[in-house]
Amino acid sequence: MRLLDLLRKSTESLEAAGIEDALPDAEMIVLHALGTERLDAYVNNPEMGTADAAKIKRLIQRRRKGEPVQYITGSVAFLELTVQVGKGVLIPRPETELLVEEVIKTIKSEELRARSQDKTTGAASCDSRLTPHATLSVLDLCTGSGCIALALAKEFPDAEVYGTDVSKEALAYARKNAKINSIQNATFLQGSLFMPVNDRKFNIITANPPYIRRDELDTLQREIRDWEPMDALDGGEDGMDFYRQILSSAGEHLNPGGCMFLELGYDQSEEVKKIAGAEGFKDVAVMNDYAGIGRVMKAGR
Ligand SMILES: C[S@@+](CC[C@H](N)C(=O)[O-])C[C@H]1O[C@@H](n2cnc3c(N)ncnc32)[C@H](O)[C@@H]1O
Repeated sequence: MRLLDLLRKSTESLEAAGIEDALPDAEMIVLHALGTERLDAYVNNPEMGTADAAKIKRLIQRRRKGEPVQYITGSVAFLELTVQVGKGVLIPRPETELLVEEVIKTIKSEELRARSQDKTTGAASCDSRLTPHATLSVLDLCTGSGCIALALAKEFPDAEVYGTDVSKEALAYARKNAKINSIQNATFLQGSLFMPVNDRKFNIITANPPYIRRDELDTLQREIRDWEPMDALDGGEDGMDFYRQILSSAGEHLNPGGCMFLELGYDQSEEVKKIAGAEGFKDVAVMNDYAGIGRVMKAGR
C-alpha cells in the first residue's frame, strides 16, 4: 500500500470514530510514524512496508480512543521551541505564545528605556533593573512543560529563569525540554507556587495557572477532560483560586518596577483585574487574543 492510500484509510478510520480534525490528525500521525516530510509524502507517495502500516494502525487506534494527537506524536511546536509532551503534562496552547510575546515586548522596551535613561539622567528607576548590566530574573509559576520559562530563557540567554510546579511528571518534561532545546539558563523546582523560591525576588513573574471553573470541567472536550492532567485545569469553584493566591503573594516576590503576567480564562479578565488592583498592582492592562478575548494580564509593581 502507498502512503497516500494509508493516509486516506487512517482519515476514514478517525472520521468513523467521530474525530473532528480527522485529516490533519491522520496526517500528523502518519508523517510522525514514518519520519517523512509532508512534501515528500505528497510528491513521492512511497510504498509502505507492513511494519510501518502496523505501527500507524496502532497510533491511529490511540487517536480513535480520544488521546490528543500531540501525546501520540510526543511533541508540539511552541514559538521557536520543540516541546515534548505526554501524559501528565499540559499541552502548550497558542494563546500562551501571546503571553510570552508580551513579556518579550515589555522587557525589550524597558531595556531600551533604561538605556536612554542611563545616558541622560542615570536615573535608578525600575527600568534600571533591566539594563543590560543587571541580571534579568524571571519566575514562571505553574510551569508545566516549561514552555513559557524556556521560551523566555532562549530569548534572553543572560537571564536567570526559574520554573516551579507541584507535578513531578511535568517537571521531568520541563527539564527534558531544556535539554533538547539546548537551554542552560532555566532551573525547574518542585513545590507549590512561590514555595520553592523562598523569599527571592524577580523582575518578571509569569503564570498560566489552572483556571477552569470546577463545574465546567465535565463539559470540556474529551481530549482535555480524559487525558490532560486535572491538576493543570482545576481552578476551584469559580476558577479564580490560583489568581487570588498568586496575586496576594506576588508583590513580595517582585522587585520594585517588576511586572506580573497572567494568562486568563475567556471570561476572567474583569475579575482578575479587580483582584490585581486590590492587591496594590498598578498599570494593570489586559491584552486580547486573535479572537478579541482578554487573554493576558500585565500588572506592574
Ligand atoms: C494550565 S497548566 C500550565 C502549564 C504551562 N505553563 C503552559 O502554559 O502550558 C498549569 C500547571 O500548574 C501546575 N500546578 C497545579 N497546582 C499548582 C501549585 N499549587 N503550584 C504550582 N503549580 C501548580 C500543574 O501541574 C500544571 O502544570
